[in-house]
Amino acid sequence: MKQDVFVELPWALERSHPPFEGNDIKSPESLYRYIYKKHTKRGDKVFDPFVGLGTSMFVAEEMGRIPFGIEIEKQKFEWVAGQLENWTHIIDDDAYNIPQYNLPKMDIIATCPPFMESHTKWNPLYSGNPKYDGYDQYLKRMGLIFKRLHPLMKKQTPLVVQLDNIHSKSGFTPLIHDVAHVLSKNFVQLSETNVTWNNPKPDYPFTTLLIFRKKL
Ligand SMILES: C[S@@+](CC[C@H](N)C(=O)[O-])C[C@H]1O[C@@H](n2cnc3c(N)ncnc32)[C@H](O)[C@@H]1O
Repeated sequence: MKQDVFVELPWALERSHPPFEGNDIKSPESLYRYIYKKHTKRGDKVFDPFVGLGTSMFVAEEMGRIPFGIEIEKQKFEWVAGQLENWTHIIDDDAYNIPQYNLPKMDIIATCPPFMESHTKWNPLYSGNPKYDGYDQYLKRMGLIFKRLHPLMKKQTPLVVQLDNIHSKSGFTPLIHDVAHVLSKNFVQLSETNVTWNNPKPDYPFTTLLIFRKKL
């Protein structure tokens, strides 16, 4: 399949966020519409190991795909599952525990993992447990979680990961490069798509999709 290098999509957060969480972590619906249209067809099974506020899952149902996902935070899990037809496909757990569940092979895995800045301590993959502080532990765990997705993937199942580099007052985190590097142990990167928003937020003009398949 020919891969896009640049695409332009509308920026809009169409679903309102729950009272306990702002919209900061949410991906725009247009992004998952684009991913599913390009890589899947009706009836396909889609998986998200970091469900968050459920954009990937809601768009999957809207497009006739079958959503499966996992989310570590109970409140988010309940809020998302409570609005899905396929609510029994959503798991409330650490994505590291995926092998414990009897999930079918997926036609695509598409996700936006929790981001971390390299100079901070609070590791979002362990809900901030101080035993696992730090960026090195974050990257290591990210690699392990994604490795554990292998059994859910067919030979050609695409893995699409949305990432951004982070520029802040405290410095620059090359998150796209660092996560791609960690994933390269178990996945082959096929391409990278640069997405610009056609009505950009001044502080968030673009994002990046990395597309992989599993190493055989
Ligand atoms: C960037 S957000 C995903 C946002 C989502 N794409 C949306 O549109 O709402 C990442 C999510 O991963 C969850 N998370 C963090 N560590 C996790 C883990 N170890 N296992 C499963 N979920 C985790 C966080 O609670 C957060 O909701």
